[in-house]
Amino acid sequence: MTPPIDAVPWFAQGAVEYLDAILSAHEPAPRVLEFGAGGSSVWLASRCARLISIESSAAWADSVRDGLKLLGADHATVLLVEADDPADFDPAYRGVRDHSYRAYVTAGRQAVDAQLDGRVDLLLVDGRARVACVRDCAALVRPGGTLLLDNADRRRYAPAISFLASAGWQRMAQFTASFGRAPVTEFWVRPEGAR
Ligand SMILES: C[S@@+](CC[C@H](N)C(=O)[O-])C[C@H]1O[C@@H](n2cnc3c(N)ncnc32)[C@H](O)[C@@H]1O
Repeated sequence: MTPPIDAVPWFAQGAVEYLDAILSAHEPAPRVLEFGAGGSSVWLASRCARLISIESSAAWADSVRDGLKLLGADHATVLLVEADDPADFDPAYRGVRDHSYRAYVTAGRQAVDAQLDGRVDLLLVDGRARVACVRDCAALVRPGGTLLLDNADRRRYAPAISFLASAGWQRMAQFTASFGRAPVTEFWVRPEGAR
């Protein structure tokens, strides 16, 4: 049996408080799409009206589901979508260890289309194939909504940041952790008229 998951997101210090302030001020409670489940999913579940979380690891998805069950969070769903079959490798969806994650990214987009009328208030990008998640799913965020990109300092995610900037998004806040390689958590807002 896996131990219960802590209801704590793995973001840089300050980012959790910043996100908490955004969510608490949100009226009505927000709709959220998350790539990369974890303690963040359990933490978010008590702060949102609806959560769809896309996860690539079966064991990790089970731990997160157990945490959500303890909370009685029926409005939060963890969808397990593993790496693409190697025969279907698509470089536009490249993730870790030369796997691609086209099905994973597509599942997030399709779940929001099918279950949330194609719109979310918050998109968290903290799992696999982050550049593709941003490129394909940023448009799901309503104007005025927020996108969180974790580990924004990693050079391989630079195309995601260029994409947001060129689409007219605004970087609202940036937090740097004091642990490890000082990972950075960024918050972007979609103004009216941004793609
Ligand atoms: C940084 S974690 C996601 C964290 C989550 N958004 C949070 O802040 O709590 C990114 C990915 O790492 C993987 N992962 C992290 N810890 C794991 C574990 N102990 N076992 C299996 N997978 C793990 C999961 O696939 C997860 O989606």
